[in-house]
Amino acid sequence: MSFTLPELPYAYDALQPYMSRETLEFHHDKHHAAYVNTGNNLLKGTEFEGKSVEEVVKGSYGKNQALFNNAGQHYNHIHFWMWMKPNGGGALPGKLEKKIVEDLGSVEKFKEDFIQAGVGQFGSGWAWLAVKDGKLTIMKTPNGENPLVHGAEPILGCDVWEHSYYIDYRNRRPDYLKAFLENLVNWEHVEEMFETASK
Ligand SMILES: [Fe+2]
Repeated sequence: MSFTLPELPYAYDALQPYMSRETLEFHHDKHHAAYVNTGNNLLKGTEFEGKSVEEVVKGSYGKNQALFNNAGQHYNHIHFWMWMKPNGGGALPGKLEKKIVEDLGSVEKFKEDFIQAGVGQFGSGWAWLAVKDGKLTIMKTPNGENPLVHGAEPILGCDVWEHSYYIDYRNRRPDYLKAFLENLVNWEHVEEMFETASK
């Protein structure tokens, strides 16, 4: 098995005005495609051939940096497309909201801290909501890293590489993160991942 570029789960213009067609065309068709192609070339002849993307991510971390970068970004982007939807944002599903309040204080505090994680990630990387030891936690990681290699299961991630927001928001990363939470997140999908991670 090798890496395959998934189709976007919505039309290229479906997330406008919060994420433009131009951004999604470049981000999916160029950037994600490059992680898939480079990852497949780097997989050849390694012990990771035939493994799932999660296994490649965990197995290559700290051992094969080039492969890890591309496998990590492939994993991150597969989910990033799914973590958004047209007319996203809005109220959180009940179970997820309850757990956020329990572990992170309140929905408002979670949003502030998630945005702060994304803003505070120096250079390229990701902001995350993850499940670790049965609790929700906010994390940030550089480059292609993700919570999987830190003993946690990601249930929501926001790409803060400039390729994800510079066309639409220029240098206004905080505005992009706010629009992501308020207008793009597919909370039902986040809750599904929360339930899977909690099993
Ligand atoms: Fe990206």
